[in-house]
Amino acid sequence: MKRTILLISLVILVLGGMAIGRALTVGTSADFPPFEYVEDGEFVGFDMDLIRAIADVAGLEIEIVDMSFDSLIPALAAGQLDIVIAGMTITEDRQRAVSFSDPYWTADQSVVVREDSEENLTVLFGNKRIGVQTGTTGDLWVEENLLNTGILTGRLVRYDTFVMAMTDLANRNIDAIVLDSPVAERFAAQRPVRIVGIIVTGENYGIAVRRGNQELVDTINEALRTLEDTGKIGELVEKHFQ
Ligand code: ARG
Repeated sequence: MKRTILLISLVILVLGGMAIGRALTVGTSADFPPFEYVEDGEFVGFDMDLIRAIADVAGLEIEIVDMSFDSLIPALAAGQLDIVIAGMTITEDRQRAVSFSDPYWTADQSVVVREDSEENLTVLFGNKRIGVQTGTTGDLWVEENLLNTGILTGRLVRYDTFVMAMTDLANRNIDAIVLDSPVAERFAAQRPVRIVGIIVTGENYGIAVRRGNQELVDTINEALRTLEDTGKIGELVEKHFQ
């Protein structure tokens, strides 16, 4: 009898502890408007609102931390993060290291140059300096298709953040940047840069969790469906993309 009571109290204690739980740590790379960026010291953008809405629907506590894009997957795998939302493309390579939610966005790559430059799409050919964010699909695309093939004979310059790449573009230290199309459009609306070409890659963004954490993937997917059905996602699209 005593043992049963002890056992029951223990179960209650553990369940209670789980419910109160510790906050889940969400990693992002807040240099990617309109998905994630910093405004007045706050993490804002579509992804930031989306993950907060998911947490609300699923009853999760979250805490958002900012790091360089290429540290997100290692940090997730190492257990320092529980979730990554960073406009992250679902790729086969990444799927070997982490598990992804259902896709929530689709994007291509864009080629961006200074507004006042004469450059066009041929900026990708020859002795040019092309900027990318380290470890992104844009980085891989330029490396595989331009650098390894000898089409780009200049340099591939890797940056921790797109904000740094944009600054270097403005300062004429590089000739172009390859980055996701929705983000390129936002930068082009806010800075003296323009888009000279689209590379159709048809990438899907997903929310990543530790590999095999199916329970959290299911929770996130279910929340995504609820937010779609209630029109919340539509609202967030309106808010961040009109
Ligand atoms: N979609 C691209 C990728 O997954 C770029 C993502 C960059 N995200 C960011 N928050 N800086 O590689």
